[in-house]
Amino acid sequence: MLIKQTGKIPQNVDVVFAIRQDVEKHPFFGMLSAKEKEYVRNIEKNLKEGERVVPLPGGRKMLFAKVPEKFNHRKSMLLMRKIVAIAKANRLKSIVINIDDFRTGEKEFDAVIPRVAAMEFEMANFEFVKYKTQPKGGWNFVREILIYADKGRIVADIEKQLKEGTIIGEETNGTRELSNTPGGDMTPTVLAQAAIAAGRRSGFKVKVLQESEIKRLKMGGVLGVARGSSEKPKFIIMEYLKGGKGKPIVLIGKGVTFDSGGLNLKPSSGIYEMHMDMSGGAAVIHTIAAAARLKLKKNIVGLVPSVENMPSGSSYRPGDLLKTMSGKTIEVLNTDAEGRVILSDALHYAKRYDPELVVDIATLTGAAMVALGQRASAIFATDEKTQEQIIESGELSGDYVWPFPLWEEYEDDIKGTFGDVANDAKTRYGGAITAAAFLWQFAKGVSWVHIDMAPRMTSIDGDYLSKGATGSPVPLLLQFLRQ
Ligand code: BES
Ligand code: MN
Ligand code: ZN
Repeated sequence: MLIKQTGKIPQNVDVVFAIRQDVEKHPFFGMLSAKEKEYVRNIEKNLKEGERVVPLPGGRKMLFAKVPEKFNHRKSMLLMRKIVAIAKANRLKSIVINIDDFRTGEKEFDAVIPRVAAMEFEMANFEFVKYKTQPKGGWNFVREILIYADKGRIVADIEKQLKEGTIIGEETNGTRELSNTPGGDMTPTVLAQAAIAAGRRSGFKVKVLQESEIKRLKMGGVLGVARGSSEKPKFIIMEYLKGGKGKPIVLIGKGVTFDSGGLNLKPSSGIYEMHMDMSGGAAVIHTIAAAARLKLKKNIVGLVPSVENMPSGSSYRPGDLLKTMSGKTIEVLNTDAEGRVILSDALHYAKRYDPELVVDIATLTGAAMVALGQRASAIFATDEKTQEQIIESGELSGDYVWPFPLWEEYEDDIKGTFGDVANDAKTRYGGAITAAAFLWQFAKGVSWVHIDMAPRMTSIDGDYLSKGATGSPVPLLLQFLRQ
């Protein structure tokens, strides 16, 4: 989609009015023709509630949306998405929007509205159609959004922000494309190829460790989970090093391309969405792609251990003891707690980079969803300040996270009987926390953040995003990395 600034509203473009009080007070009203004005005055009385699209005399259309009560940055971001969703549903192809409509009076947010808007517009316009036959009239994507700004009144660098936001939106959608791809077509090999392609396109280095190399490194966690599948494991390493001498931030993404549960097979209700269990990995690939396209002056490393978790005669079993790269052994109590098993090797591998910070992103537990619903991901951190910064980045990007405790007391719950750590806790309570406590065993000695993104894996109605993967936490991570 093309998103660009405009100083006037062209005749052949449909107009969007996000209205606070009176249609006549909207800056676009004065730019309508006399006939259009008269028409709009007449219908205004019927526009008390909701949104609608009406044809104006002369042919172009007008999209009305109400700016909600107690308007704030959260509602503003939703309004951005909603407008595009309505435009799409009504097959509007080219629209003009007044950027001032999204102002909330919150200084920090108002300063970044063009960037956020471009990102939200891109995200709202996305739909996973690769496997669908194109309808006769074509897809109903919006082709162009013109951003009207009254002589740069909002911010001076509006054009630059629009470009940045478009990039972040596109890469978020790239994440969604990978996550939505069914498990039969998205294997560890394909995910690794996607990383290589992203690296070529956007300018970062990608190296893929094959099974032989993974064996040489003694990554017993990755190898253990991969054993049940005929798909070979891959360990994807990405490097974007444009930050001079500074220590790198290492991003780790869970790359389980299909999680059947293994021998502890999942029930039929939850299994079909498990091709999205590589969403953390996809987010890491596209976060680095966005960082490279935005030319951030940062050192960023991405690690994605990728496997398929399948039941078969060669599967790892409950009771198996796996020796990880760190030397610690994992007692497998449940083959469905596979994410933490492969992440253990990646967390250990990350230490090679002497990182300033390690952030892992994983669709790790259903328990995180039980705790939070589907409106925020769970975050755990060894450093309180970093945690605050990430929560703040979530607020500003509309990609929310909420903190959980990382306390030593919880380590008691994951002690192994015959191995060093058990991959399932002794208690059925606090599953998101005990999973984090497990990962922590492999992250000791570094500043570490864990994002359990299971809650935000798929969109919900109130998101105004198409069905399927959300692309979270790409918006959050880019907001964080920019600081
Ligand atoms: N990938 C799942 C977690 C998940 C569930 C993500 C639903 C998104 C939506 C993970 O591998 C898993 O199966 N976790 C288990 C852990 C348990 C066996 C300790 C879970 O949450 O039930
Ligand atoms: Mn699982
Ligand atoms: Zn999983």
